[in-house]
Amino acid sequence: MRILITGGAGYIGTHTAINLLENGNDLEIIDSFINSYPAAIKRLNYLKNILKIDSKFNIHNGDLRNQKFLEKIFSDSKKSNNPIEAVIHLAGLKSVGDSIRFPEKYWDFNVNGSINLFKVMEKYECRNIVFSSSATIYKYQGKEVLLDENSVIEPTNPYGQTKAEIEKILQDINKENVNKWRISILRYFNPIGAHSSGLIGEDPFGEPNNLFPAIIKVSSNQTRELKIFGYDWPTIDGTAVRDYIHVMDLAKAHYLALLKLMEFESKLLILNIGTGIGTSVLDLVNTFKSINKCDIPYSFTERRKGDFPYVVADNKMAEKILNWKPRNTIEDMCIDGWNWIKKNPSGYPK
Ligand code: NAD
Ligand code: WQD
Repeated sequence: MRILITGGAGYIGTHTAINLLENGNDLEIIDSFINSYPAAIKRLNYLKNILKIDSKFNIHNGDLRNQKFLEKIFSDSKKSNNPIEAVIHLAGLKSVGDSIRFPEKYWDFNVNGSINLFKVMEKYECRNIVFSSSATIYKYQGKEVLLDENSVIEPTNPYGQTKAEIEKILQDINKENVNKWRISILRYFNPIGAHSSGLIGEDPFGEPNNLFPAIIKVSSNQTRELKIFGYDWPTIDGTAVRDYIHVMDLAKAHYLALLKLMEFESKLLILNIGTGIGTSVLDLVNTFKSINKCDIPYSFTERRKGDFPYVVADNKMAEKILNWKPRNTIEDMCIDGWNWIKKNPSGYPK
């Protein structure tokens, strides 16, 4: 299948791309590199060659909000008699904090960029899409309550609101159903880790906002200590609990969702992609330390505004419908994250 990946140079994009290539798909990758590095694409190509993968990919440097740019990619693929059959839509801005500071930027990039993409897909009759949504859209349900796909949607920040809005647009497209779209919305929980080769991984711009990149920075002595936000949450050890999932298990779920969609004439498939297992901040820090035999100095600070104590997926639906099981443990995630930072202390070559 010829598949277009938007945001394919990013963290989840590169890992999803290698999985799709391994499964025999040719790719068109779009990225504006606003939050990623061209070196990530070079590494993807290198990894593809090492793994002796025959499938091919092309990279298109441009912005989703540029309709002409998008149209050219679709029209060229149509002319080549090998049209793009499906889109995996990952491009977007994802920092909760920045979205509070720059809401109009987030609505423009995430929502306007997506609308543009859907318009061009409709024009070129490419109506199969997997969209990356987020667990951040759910309302906090209370202590130790797993979030299922029917949990209340009530995002508390502009980033989450843009994700919920794109979901609504896709649901409207599906309701109309004249042109028979196949749509899968994947709500990711907390993807961490890296490809086991250590050739691709997460390399955020600037100071990391998320826990795992912050841990690996401390583990490689680039930051002196980890600040743990809150010690008095109503959890087993007072630190907040999340559902961490290995990025390669997440990557695999995209291809399985696409294959599942293709079985139907039209379909809307909404799935949580998590492990269903809760891990506290301290659990993650201690596992990272002991499995990698390294030191992670930390101190406690006040709670981060907008955080919740417990965000864990009910992932039964994804397991059943996709016949998918996350294979990697928290230990595997820590080993692969450490391997990535050891081999690339400053991330991708800049
Ligand atoms: P990332 O920032 O590493 O990747 C996103 C990529 O999209 C980047 O390479 C960026 O340059 C590109 N991009 C952004 N806006 C663009 C535009 N208008 N045109 C073209 N390219 C553009 O982020 P990621 O962690 O790989 O996340 C991928 C998707 O998954 C995002 O939509 C994010 O919201 C979603 N998501 C991520 C997480 C997470 O924890 N990483 C969790 C839930 C959902
Ligand atoms: C995890 C826990 C922090 C950093 C975010 C987005 C969500 C999704 C995934 C995109 C929390 C604590 C963190 C640090 C800490 N992304 N922490 N010290 O908040 O669950 O989710 O990323 O969709 O939308 O909100 O992930 O990794 O930021 O935090 O103690 O330096 O680690 O307070 O309890 P979160 P996270």
